[in-house]
Amino acid sequence: MKTELIDPFNRKIEYIRVSVTDLCNYRCGYCMPEQGVHPEGNHKEYLSYDELARIIKAFVKLGVAKVRLTGGEPLVRKNLSHLVSEISTYEGLEDIALSTNAHHLEREAQALKTAGMTRCNISIDSLKPERFKNITRGGDLVKVLAGVDKALEVGMTPVKFNMVVMKGTNDDEIEAMVDYGLEKGVEVRFIETMPIGPAGVSMMNQHYPASKILARVKKHVGADLIPSAGKTHDGPARNFIIAGTNTRIGVISAVSEHFCETCNRVRLTARGVLALCLGQEDSVDLRTPLRDGITDEGLEQLIKDAMLKKPEKHFFNENVHNIEFRQMVQLGG
Ligand code: GTP
Ligand code: 5AD
Ligand code: SF4
Repeated sequence: MKTELIDPFNRKIEYIRVSVTDLCNYRCGYCMPEQGVHPEGNHKEYLSYDELARIIKAFVKLGVAKVRLTGGEPLVRKNLSHLVSEISTYEGLEDIALSTNAHHLEREAQALKTAGMTRCNISIDSLKPERFKNITRGGDLVKVLAGVDKALEVGMTPVKFNMVVMKGTNDDEIEAMVDYGLEKGVEVRFIETMPIGPAGVSMMNQHYPASKILARVKKHVGADLIPSAGKTHDGPARNFIIAGTNTRIGVISAVSEHFCETCNRVRLTARGVLALCLGQEDSVDLRTPLRDGITDEGLEQLIKDAMLKKPEKHFFNENVHNIEFRQMVQLGG
C-alpha cells in the first residue's frame, strides 16, 4: 500500500516548504524587522544540504510530491543548485519550486533549472523603483526584473508573481501588476498581509481584502474571471483565468477567508524545526534526533507522529497576539 501522511483532520500532507536560510538581503516590513533576525546566527545551527536532503527524502517516501525551497531568501545560500540536483533524483517528487525575491535570480536561474528546479514564485510588491526600494528597505527593482526575464528565458514553468497588497502603500498598483502579468504571460497572485510575527502584526492596519482586489481586477480587464482548479497538491491561492486570455490571476486570502480546511502542507525551518502550521506554534525538532544518529525508519516514524500535532487552523482573526512567536522570515512564508 502507498504510504501517505494524513493529519487528524483527514487532510493529506503532500507539500513541504523547506527554508534553507532565515537570512535575507531584503527587509520587507511585513516579514522581518529592519535589523534582521539572529544577526549572531551560528552556521552550525543551520541544517547542511545533506541533512536537508535526508529529511526531504523521508517526506517523499511518505508521499510528499511537492517541495518548495524558501528562505529568508533561498538564493543567499551558496550552491542551492547542489541541493536541487540531489533531491531531483527522488522518485515520487513531482514538483521542485522556489520562492524568491529574485535579486540573485539572473545569476542562478540557469544552474537551478539544469539541476531540476521546475518553477519559481517571485515577490514583487511594486513596479516603481523608489517605492520598491522603500518596501524592501533597499531592494533593487532592476535586478529583480532581470531575474524575472532570466527565469522565463531558461524555461521555469510556470513563473508566478507574488504581490502583498498594502492599503496606502501599493494598492494603487493592482492594475499595473495585472498588466505586467499579462505582458509576460505570468500569473500574478495578490496576497493579503498576514499577522505573522511582530513585523506582520505591525502591518495589519494596511489590510486590503481579496474581495476588493478581485473586483478591481475584473473591472480593469473588462472580462470575466473564470475560477480555475489547480492540481491536488497546489498551494493556498484561489485561481482564475482572465477570460479571453491564457493568463491566470490568483488571490491568497489568508485573513479574510482562510483556507485551512484544505491545508496540505508543513514547513521545515532552516534550523531543522518542523512547523506544522504557519499561524500556530506546534512544532517538532528534527535536528537533534538527526544529529544523534536516528535511523531512516526512526526519522520516518518521527515525521508520521508529528502529523498528529497538526492544528486544525490558524487564529489570525481571533487573537493576533498568539502569533507573535516567530517572524515570517524564519518560517519561509
Ligand atoms: P504554489 O505552489 O505556486 O501554489 O505556491 P504557494 O502559494 O504555496 O507558495 P508561495 O511561497 O508563493 O507563497 C505565497 C503566499 O502564500 C505567501 O504569502 C505564503 O506565506 C502564503 N502561504 C503559503 N502556505 C500557506 C499556509 O499554509 N497558510 C497561510 N495562511 N498562508 C500560506
Ligand atoms: N503576509 C503575507 N505574505 C507574506 N510574505 C512574507 N511575509 C508575509 C506576510 N506577513 C510573502 C512574501 C513572499 C512569500 C513567500 O511570502 O511576499 O512572496
Ligand atoms: Fe526577504 Fe522575502 Fe521576507 Fe522580503 S518577504 S524580507 S524578500 S524573505
